[in-house]
Amino acid sequence: RKISLTGIKPTGTPHLGNYVGAIRPALELTKTYDTVYFIADYHALTTVQNGAEMRANIYKVAATWLALGLNPEESLFYKQSDIPEIFELSWALSCFTPKGFMNRAHAYKAKVEANTAAGVDVDSNVNMGLYCYPCLMDADILMFSADIVPVGKDQKQHVEFARDIAIKFNKHFGEDVFTVPEPVFQESTGVIPGLDGRKMSKSYDNYIDIFLEPKALKKRLGKIVTNSQGIEEPKDPDTCNVFKLYKLFATPEQTEALAARYRAGGMGWGHAKQELQNVLEEHLGAAREKYFYLLDHTDEIEKILAYGKERARAKAKVMMDRVRHLLGTY
Ligand code: TYM
Repeated sequence: RKISLTGIKPTGTPHLGNYVGAIRPALELTKTYDTVYFIADYHALTTVQNGAEMRANIYKVAATWLALGLNPEESLFYKQSDIPEIFELSWALSCFTPKGFMNRAHAYKAKVEANTAAGVDVDSNVNMGLYCYPCLMDADILMFSADIVPVGKDQKQHVEFARDIAIKFNKHFGEDVFTVPEPVFQESTGVIPGLDGRKMSKSYDNYIDIFLEPKALKKRLGKIVTNSQGIEEPKDPDTCNVFKLYKLFATPEQTEALAARYRAGGMGWGHAKQELQNVLEEHLGAAREKYFYLLDHTDEIEKILAYGKERARAKAKVMMDRVRHLLGTY
């Protein structure tokens, strides 16, 4: 079977963008692929630099995957920092990566542009972890011979770097050491919008956590930005942030039915938000209980991660033996 691999950074509580962009498609692939899913904690270290916060975030990401149905027997599930071979491979790959690639990486470029606009030094607040971030992602992906990487569209460039480096490395040594990975994302879902319509993201504070309790969820959904049309006016579903989120969870029939109510008029924003809440509850209500159970039983999470660590390291060692042999360091 082919291999599907993806990771989530523990930068906070996972949100609906993470769920629809990565977790849901990744879990669907467990039927047809061998799956490798992990917690990218050393990627989060570029911004999360407090031990207690990091630890809590790691548990949240682990509990999210598990609550949503990841089966640790079926999928290889581990945390990145438990696999030292990944960091060794990252260094080796960085020596085959043109610096220009990193200059062009989206996250770094965005910082440079923001700094330029603010009139401060271009590299202000840029640590080397952020700059070299794509090299670590290359190692994550190539170590486990991923064929496909289900991600949100924002990660496409990173997976393309991994492709380029795999091809370059294989060519250099004249061997197919690394599988050339393919990013997969659903055109239909695209970039999941947040409360304000921009990409849902921690950094914009416009996200909706996956497992909010009903009351807190209602409050959060209340913040979704809508226009000022009154109840009676007919509304355009396609430009509405509430509807864009609704259709990611609703059946095609439900989606059509709500679209018709938009167009007919007589439906206010409060009603639309209530419909969104209902469909979210239907999808995620049961998993929420499991999520909070796991957060209360972190020893169970630890056990699962220890099991994944053992299995992942065994695979990583085989790959690193091969790489070190080629490099002449072994
Ligand atoms: P991260 O942790 O920021 O996000 C995890 C996944 O969620 C997707 N995502 C979105 N998809 C659609 N709409 C959105 N608004 C949205 N926000 C987030 C992301 O595209 C991602 O798939 N660098 C990665 C983590 C990583 C990784 C890897 C992924 C590290 N190593 C190797 C794949 C393979 C990241 O920052 O994702």
